[in-house]
Amino acid sequence: MAVTRRAFLERVGRAGGYSAVYLSMLGLGLLRSPAAYAGPPDLPEGSGSGRSVVVLGAGIAGLVAAYELKRAGYQVTVLEARDRVGGRVWTVRGGDRIVQTGMADQRCAFDDGLYLNAGAARIPSQHHAILGYARRLKVPLEVMVNVNRAARFDYGESPVTGAQAVNDTRGRFTELLAKAIDKGALDRELTGVDKAKLLDYLRAYGALDDKNLYEGSNRSGWAEAAGAHARRGAARRPLTLQQLVDYRFWGLGLIFEEDVDQQAPMFQPIGGMDRIAEAIHAAVKPEVRLGSLVRQIRKGENGVAIVYSDSTGAERRLEADFAICTLPLSVLRKVDADFAPDVKAAVNSAFYFPGTKVGFESRRFWEQDDSVYGGLAWTSRPSEVVWYPSGDWNATKGVLVAAYSVGFLDSEESEKFARMGLSERLAISRAVIERLHPGRSRELTKPVTVNWGQTPHSEGVAALWSDEQRQREYARLCRPDGRIYFAGEHISYLMAWQEGAVLSAHEAVTAIHKRAAGEASLRSGLRRTLAA
Ligand code: PHE
Repeated sequence: MAVTRRAFLERVGRAGGYSAVYLSMLGLGLLRSPAAYAGPPDLPEGSGSGRSVVVLGAGIAGLVAAYELKRAGYQVTVLEARDRVGGRVWTVRGGDRIVQTGMADQRCAFDDGLYLNAGAARIPSQHHAILGYARRLKVPLEVMVNVNRAARFDYGESPVTGAQAVNDTRGRFTELLAKAIDKGALDRELTGVDKAKLLDYLRAYGALDDKNLYEGSNRSGWAEAAGAHARRGAARRPLTLQQLVDYRFWGLGLIFEEDVDQQAPMFQPIGGMDRIAEAIHAAVKPEVRLGSLVRQIRKGENGVAIVYSDSTGAERRLEADFAICTLPLSVLRKVDADFAPDVKAAVNSAFYFPGTKVGFESRRFWEQDDSVYGGLAWTSRPSEVVWYPSGDWNATKGVLVAAYSVGFLDSEESEKFARMGLSERLAISRAVIERLHPGRSRELTKPVTVNWGQTPHSEGVAALWSDEQRQREYARLCRPDGRIYFAGEHISYLMAWQEGAVLSAHEAVTAIHKRAAGEASLRSGLRRTLAA
């Protein structure tokens, strides 16, 4: 199914629209602030004993479901096709093999201690559920610098720092608005508002001078740095709107941290994003069967039957009272399953977009030579984002994500990047780094690239549901098919976030628990009736 480019670009914008409406309602007192996160389902100990659940997939959703069910005494089995847990949470280290459909296998050769978060790579502070597991399981976190005004925007021949791009844009716009207010152009809209007060704000916001003009500001950085003695410093000359607008990152790239989930400081586990998945795994190790590929799903009156091939290739069969299926729908649609027709249709309708990363090991020239400590740089090229490593500051080497392309700026360009072969992706990534850090691209070594669309058992970044699909197909998958429940980021409004996977797992666990408790009391009631 084709998703329009507009829908793609609105992926983030819509979230912004929602939060803007939400915040203004909150400000007007129409809403109370949201209730605090209630925490994971608090199932009574032993309440699940005698009941079994098979969980398909050991990504975050599957691991969380297994963890909570086990605590309540359910007999749990997790089937995972890969030889590792985490799913789309995937950290690549030296020695790891990277398998991509339609591409030669790659062997990662990073030095010890260096890694690439080839999947999930950032957690915002309000994602309580995933952060709750990190806290409970004592996974050490560090700040992940998501927005850094020192990181650059790839403006053609001459890259510009975020500080300059953001503040010159703001200054120019603010000056226009101040002029309109001054000339009375907005008088009708501003009836009853103190114009002088508005101008006070605009001067502060846009760094306007006392004539309400934008003549540049040291917010945009120094042309000549300030220092000791006579060095008073000189601000950069401001860019014009003409110079600023003509790039794909115009708009979103300049206000990225205003997206409700994209904060300037975010979090990452120290040592790799897979640390959280690994910590949950440690608590359910005996329950997880790696190398177990689901081949067939069958619903029964009182349970579910799964046929899978185990790590030796042998075919095996497993029955359980319930199943939680967390496979990405892009994968699930190829599995032989006797789902109800509307469930089948919902699974088939999901659109998964690709996403690509390119990582290099390198001397940390971005820190040592250019004072860029973390954050993102943006380019109009199809590689979209350069992502500097956070943590291990001033170490000699680091892994630079020279390309992170997921459709933030242009879905078609991003899809194009995903279709490129290794050498073309590397060439573009190197060219972008060369522009942002002249003379340094030759220091980039040991390249690796992943595209989630080409990653077996992922086959895409995430499910992109349209508003119409949310009403029908998505809503259908939020309900079980017989005794099969669905979970994963695709069963949430937190698309492509671990938080969505965790919350959907909590929903599935809670629903199964309610049903199991209902069935148990029905049975004991029946027993009493028969005994009487
Ligand atoms: N959560 C991921 C990120 O931070 C992926 C994502 C892509 C999220 C697109 C929302 C939209 O980049």
